[in-house]
Amino acid sequence: MSNMKIKNICCIGAGYVGGPTMAVIALKCPHINVTVVDMNKEKIKKWNGDLEHLPVYEPGLKEIIAQVRNKNLFFSDKIDESIQKSEMIFMAVNTPTKVEGKGAGMAADLSFVESCAKNIALVSKKDKIVIEKSTLPVRTAERIKAVLKKYNNECHFEILSNPEFLAEGSAIEDLFKSDRVLIGGDKTKSGQEAVKALVNIYLNWIPLDKIITTNVWSSELSKLASNAMLAQRISSINSLSAICEKTGADTIEVAKAVGMDHRIGSYFLSPSPGFGGSCFQKDILNLVYLCEHYGLSEVAEFWLQVIKINNYQRMRIVDKVEELFKNGRKGRITILGWSFKKNTNDSRESSSIYISNSLLNMGYKLNIYDPKVADERILDDLNSLNKLNNNPAYNLTSDNLQIYNSLNESIKGTDVILILTEWDEFKNFESDAKIIDTRNIYNGNKYFKL
Ligand code: UDX
Ligand code: ADP
Repeated sequence: MSNMKIKNICCIGAGYVGGPTMAVIALKCPHINVTVVDMNKEKIKKWNGDLEHLPVYEPGLKEIIAQVRNKNLFFSDKIDESIQKSEMIFMAVNTPTKVEGKGAGMAADLSFVESCAKNIALVSKKDKIVIEKSTLPVRTAERIKAVLKKYNNECHFEILSNPEFLAEGSAIEDLFKSDRVLIGGDKTKSGQEAVKALVNIYLNWIPLDKIITTNVWSSELSKLASNAMLAQRISSINSLSAICEKTGADTIEVAKAVGMDHRIGSYFLSPSPGFGGSCFQKDILNLVYLCEHYGLSEVAEFWLQVIKINNYQRMRIVDKVEELFKNGRKGRITILGWSFKKNTNDSRESSSIYISNSLLNMGYKLNIYDPKVADERILDDLNSLNKLNNNPAYNLTSDNLQIYNSLNESIKGTDVILILTEWDEFKNFESDAKIIDTRNIYNGNKYFKL
């Protein structure tokens, strides 16, 4: 491991984390060749294709790809070859919540991480630094280490935890100006050398005082803790929005007054239809599972409440829509926004999915419009959730679901407009329909806002 010179980096997983992160590393480290690999060949083809249709939409991303693609950034489906020639390997594969087996519905499904580690072990012929980039439960590094050892006794693998703190929609900006970069490694000599090698990569654009080094477990837990605390702030303000509604207080004004206390701060206090995204719920469930494993039931219950309030908020919005159809008529509702936040085409765990599913279950007809999420993605999101019920409650037909590619078309003749994502283009439009604004962005009259 000593004096390892990093000339080639391989990143396994060309998704929302791997793609943007490696694009920025390639841009900032022109002396290093970066190859992003994925078992999904279609995805790789798209990364190598038209800049307007990359698999991930992020402001600023396509400009970087245009600059570095096929210079020192490569997208490839030749996974083994890329692992072999690289000294440093990032694992940025998906870690969804388990759907079956021990810990189902709570713990992270590590099968992608484990098969990735097995792959690295089976094809490696020289020592490597392996970096956990995906959000993982604490002590995953131990499991990765065990898998690497089981399948390869010849090479030395040094495992580092380097959690990603980028937020989708501002990923490039976040990568350029990270609040901090966290690197966890073993305290052994080779562990510290590996940490140093990674620190040197980030030093190409991040000041040293923003790079924190720690042990692997602290690093893994810091990631879960950061996401849990961010999500907890959203559930706090969302729970207060329910009290505000009952008492006639204005949530936005309460959030402003609270946030001006510098000890609290103003970020992450926007009321919403509930947080979405691939991380918050998954990470809290991981934390809850971990607490239960260690017999910390009160702590587990505390964090679980953050998710309960999130689900409650989603259903509160559904109730608000119902109020508008008191006569029992099941009218047409336009859902504005499918991505879990603006400036991304990612819809994982978006509140739009859960709210729309409930409304369809109740017999309402939906028009849906989102500026970036593909129609197939919307259909797939709804069908997947509907299938989870033992008796799927609805069939999607052209009568109960219309997906539009223009805002104006989507709101023609509709009864209610429900703004669920804060896309800028939802700020101004004309309509006679009743408007429920869950993001507090619409400039005209609203029937209800959070
Ligand atoms: C999050 C973390 O912010 C990031 O550091 C981590 O690396 C990955 O998880 P992300 O999920 O991409 O990032 O987006 P984020 O901006 O955190 O938003 C998550 C959800 O919270 C969105 O649905 C957003 O609309 C919602 N949110 C955010 C609110 O409802 N209110 C707020 O005040 C802020
Ligand atoms: P994230 O938001 O964490 O980046 P994504 O689902 O967007 O998650 O991306 C993860 C990517 O990892 C997917 O494109 C998936 O095909 C890829 N992947 C998962 N397991 C493996 C593996 N063993 N080898 C190669 N690619 C993998």
